[in-house]
Amino acid sequence: MKALLLTVALLLGCITASSQDKDTGIITVSTNDLSMVFSISADKKVVYNYFGDKFQHVSPFLNKKYKEQPDNGIGYAPVIYPAYGGRFFLNPALKLTHNDGVQTTELIYADHQVKNIDNNRTETVIRLKDPLYPVFVNLNFTAYRKENVICQSVSISHQEKNKLAVENIASAYLPLHADSYYLTHFHGAWASEMQLVEEKLTPGVKRVESKKGVRTTQSENSSFLLSLNGPANEDRGEVYAGSLAWSGNYLSSFEIDECGLLHVMSGMNDFASTYNLEPGKTLQTPEMVWTYSSTGKGQVSRNLHDWSRNYALAHGDWELPVVLNSWEGAYFDFSEKTITDMIDDAAAFGVEMFVLDDGWFGNKYPRNSDKVSLGDWQVNKKKLPRGIDYLAKYAVDKGLKFGIWIEPEMVSPKSELAEKHPEWIVKSGKRDIIPMRNQWLLDLSNPAVQDFVVKTFDEVVALSPHISYIKWDANRHVDNFGSDYLSKENQTHFWIEYTKGLYSAYERIRENHPDIMIQLCSSGGGRLDFGALKYHDEFWASDNTNSLDRIFIQYSTNLFFPAKATAAHVSTTPNHQTGMMAPLKFRFDVAMTGRLGMELQPKDLTGDELPFAEEAVKNYKRIRPIVQMGDLYRLKSPYDGNGWASHMYISKDKKESVFFAYSLKYHGRTTFFETKLKGLDPAKMYKVTELNKAGNSTFYGDGQVFPGDYLMKAGISLTIGNTYESTVLLITEQ
Ligand code: DGJ
Repeated sequence: MKALLLTVALLLGCITASSQDKDTGIITVSTNDLSMVFSISADKKVVYNYFGDKFQHVSPFLNKKYKEQPDNGIGYAPVIYPAYGGRFFLNPALKLTHNDGVQTTELIYADHQVKNIDNNRTETVIRLKDPLYPVFVNLNFTAYRKENVICQSVSISHQEKNKLAVENIASAYLPLHADSYYLTHFHGAWASEMQLVEEKLTPGVKRVESKKGVRTTQSENSSFLLSLNGPANEDRGEVYAGSLAWSGNYLSSFEIDECGLLHVMSGMNDFASTYNLEPGKTLQTPEMVWTYSSTGKGQVSRNLHDWSRNYALAHGDWELPVVLNSWEGAYFDFSEKTITDMIDDAAAFGVEMFVLDDGWFGNKYPRNSDKVSLGDWQVNKKKLPRGIDYLAKYAVDKGLKFGIWIEPEMVSPKSELAEKHPEWIVKSGKRDIIPMRNQWLLDLSNPAVQDFVVKTFDEVVALSPHISYIKWDANRHVDNFGSDYLSKENQTHFWIEYTKGLYSAYERIRENHPDIMIQLCSSGGGRLDFGALKYHDEFWASDNTNSLDRIFIQYSTNLFFPAKATAAHVSTTPNHQTGMMAPLKFRFDVAMTGRLGMELQPKDLTGDELPFAEEAVKNYKRIRPIVQMGDLYRLKSPYDGNGWASHMYISKDKKESVFFAYSLKYHGRTTFFETKLKGLDPAKMYKVTELNKAGNSTFYGDGQVFPGDYLMKAGISLTIGNTYESTVLLITEQ
C-alpha cells in the first residue's frame, strides 16, 4: 500500500505539504550541502529561519523565539517575503496599491508543494495569500542538488475587481545576522567593466542598481558576494553569492536594521515601473540565483560554474573553438580579399572559427562607419559582391567554422528601417530621440519588433548554410523611455515588457536554431547576467582587450561566470583601447584563461611571433578541456594590490591542471613570486611542464615530477617579477 502511494506520488511528480511538514510546520529547501529553512508560525506567517550549510535536524526551528532575538519592532522574526504593511517599515519585497486605494498587504501561508523535476532538481512552491484581499503570491524555489545552487522567483495574481498596482516585487529576500557584513560588488564603464569593490556595510541602505534598461551591466552588475564577519576569503568563512537572472533594470538593496540584522532584497528595479496587473493575470519575476559556502568564495564560484555549465548556458558541455574576430583587425574597412586573407592566415596557425564583425551590411546606406544602416540587414553588395556564403564556404574549405555579427535591437537614424517604421523606435512622446553611438533603440515591448528581430536572425543565418555562430551586440542603453505600442496608462510596463520581449525573441530563435553558437556581446560586458546567458554559449567580457586590464575584468567576471564562456582575445600592440604594449606571450597567457580568441590582423604578427602564436594555440587546445570544464582555484587576486595574479584550473578527476601566474608591476630584483597550489590530489604525483615559454624556463622544476601534497604545502616559486612577465604550467598526473 505504502509502495502504491509512493508510486502514485511519483507519477504525479509532486507532494503537497507532506504530513511531516504539516506536523512540524517546517519547510526546507535543500541541495546536497545547503538548506533554506522556513517555519510556519501560529499566526500563519512564514518565518525565514535559515540559509546555510545543510541540517540533519530542523525541529529546533519550531521554537517560537527566533534565536532569542529581542523585539525589533518588526515582529519576532523576519518573514520569508516581507510585504509593505503591519510593522514592516524597512524596504519591502512587495508593495501594492489595492483597488480601493489601500496601500498595505499582509501575506500568510496558504499551502506548499514539493516536486522532483528530475533526480537533480526539486521545485518547492510556497503559496501565500492576503487574508483580506484576493491576492496570491507564490514563492518558487528550484534547488539544484549537485551544484548547491538555489534559484528563487515570485509570481503574483489576484481576483480584485480592477487592476492591482504592483509597485515593487522583488525576486528574493534574505535576512542575515552576523557581527559584520562585507559586500563585494562591481562598477565600471565601457572598457572597464566589473571593477571589484569590497566594503563593510554600515547601518542604512546600500543600493546596487541599474536604470539603463539595456546594457545594464556595463557600469554595475546584478551579481554580488556577501561575506559574514570579515572580508571574503578564498578558502575560509561564510560567503553568499547572489546573481539576478535579468537583463533589464535591477535593484539589490542591503539594509542593516536597528538590531543589526541585514535585509537583502533583489529584483527588478521599481523605478518608474508600476505594473497594472489585470485580475486573473500573473506577473512573474526573474530568478535570483543563490549559492553559499562556509569555506569561502572559491567554492561559491565553483558551484556557480558547475551550475552554469549544466543549466545556464546554451551548450555548457561543448568545448568552444579558438576564434579570430575581424573587429580590431579590420573594423569597417574591409573587402572580400581582406577577409579571405585573414581566414588564410588564421588557418595557418590553428584558429578554428572566423567571425565577421560589424560592417558587412546596408546598401542604400552602406555600413562603412557606425553612423548608418543598423536595421538594414542585407549584405553590402559593393563590399562583398559574392555574398556571405562565399566567405563562409571559403572558411569552411580552410577547415574553419564561420560566424557573423548582428545588432538586431538597434536602428540607425539613417537607415531604411527607421524610414519605414518610426513607430518602432523607443521614444518619450514628442521629445527628440537622443542617439547614442549614432543609433536608436527598437521597442521590443512591441510584438511586431520581436517578430522583426526573430526574422532578422533567421535571415542572417540563412545567408549561408555554413554559418555556425552569431555575435549578438547591443551598443546603447535606454534613455527617455517610452513606447508607441504600450497604452498611456501602461508606459511604466516598458522596462519589464522590453526584457520579456527580448527573452521571447530569444526563445523563438533558440527553437529555430538550437545548434548555433551565440555570443552575448553588448559593447563588451554590457549584458552579463544569467537571464540572457542561458540563450548563449559565451560572452564578450569587455571591449578592452588590453591584457593587463583583462586580468582584473576576468577575475571579477569569473567569480560568477565560467571561464569557458569568457571570450578573451589576443589583440595587437600597442593596444587599441589603452595604447599599452604587452609582449605577445603575456597577451596569450591572459587570453588562454578563458575561451581563447584573437582580435587582430594576423599579418601584424611578424618574426618569432608567428611560430609563438601557432605554438600557443596548440597549447591552448591541449589545456582547453581543463580551462573550459575544470574547477577554478584562485591563488592570488590582482585586486590585493601586491602586483601579482595567479589561479589554476583542475580537471574534475584531478589528473590534470593548468596554472597561470602574472606579474602586474616591477617587483624589485629581490622579490620573487611564490604560491601554494590548491585543489590537487595530495596523494598523486604530478609532472609540471612549462608552456608558452619565450626564452628560459621561469620554473626551477620545469619537467620534473612532484607529489601533490608538496605542491600544495611547500608551494612553488617562479622567476617572474617584471611587469608583463607570466608563467603557464601544465600539471599532469604521472
Ligand atoms: C561593440 C563590440 O563589443 C565590438 O566587439 C564590436 O563588435 C563593435 N561593437 C562593432 O560595432
